[in-house]
Amino acid sequence: MSLLELKSIVVRYGEIEAVDGVSLVVEAGEVVTLLGSNGAGKSTTLRAISGLAKPASGDILLEGQSIVGLRPEEIVRRGIAQVPEGRRVFPGLSVRENIMLGASNRRGLKKSEIRREADEMFDLFPDIRRFADALGWTLSGGQQQMVAVARGLMAKPRILLLDEPSLGLAPVIVQAVFAIIAEIRRRGTTVLLVEQNARMGLSVADRGYVLETGKLVLSGTPTQLWSNEEIRAAYLGGRAAVA
Ligand SMILES: Nc1ncnc2c1ncn2[C@@H]1O[C@H](COP(=O)(O)OP(=O)(O)O)[C@@H](O)[C@H]1O
Ligand SMILES: [Mg+2]
Repeated sequence: MSLLELKSIVVRYGEIEAVDGVSLVVEAGEVVTLLGSNGAGKSTTLRAISGLAKPASGDILLEGQSIVGLRPEEIVRRGIAQVPEGRRVFPGLSVRENIMLGASNRRGLKKSEIRREADEMFDLFPDIRRFADALGWTLSGGQQQMVAVARGLMAKPRILLLDEPSLGLAPVIVQAVFAIIAEIRRRGTTVLLVEQNARMGLSVADRGYVLETGKLVLSGTPTQLWSNEEIRAAYLGGRAAVA
């Protein structure tokens, strides 16, 4: 049984079919990348998984159990944490407080334990350790992305959903963020990663799916996807990315 399975998911915004019959699986221990250009339906797919968007039809199974219709808090409690697009670090809270918020789904934890775990997070994110007491707004984009990922990990998820962690970051920072994703996988957390940056997205992935205007058009290992001429042209730098 797969850890996560989407079966013919459809999500509409009014007339717009943002996600149009998407089926995919994520096995335990994998990093799976969902590629696609702007507006392809990547974020909506993640929002459907985390309960923030309601599918018009289809099913989403976590270890074989449907999670469609559950409240987002309940979905987090069952082990799916999402790091949303755009980072959303609380500007007036300290970095440590931002990270601690990620544990709010875990009942019966003392604040002191949460604080200790948040401080342990800095082993994985040494670049932000020195900002533990700094306010969120003082951080750079890359540092905020690290805070957002650390907050997601504080939920101790079985599967972490990452929505375009490289967006708007300088190349060297993107490298650092992807090194962390590789380390997260090494530590045993399953990751479903959404990316427009196919090169980086596939560099850490076991498998990938390509989404175009709400429909999956291709899937395979990174090697298989790289060897597809059309995909390479559209997403991997052969010509300008599809708008
Ligand atoms: N809240 C919304 N209301 C109406 N349309 C939306 C909303 N969010 C996304 N869309 C539309 O749904 C489609 C898919 O969007 P999205 O899932 O954000 O794509 P991606 O993350 O791949 O860029 C786009 O056409 C977008 O304009
Ligand atoms: Mg998006």
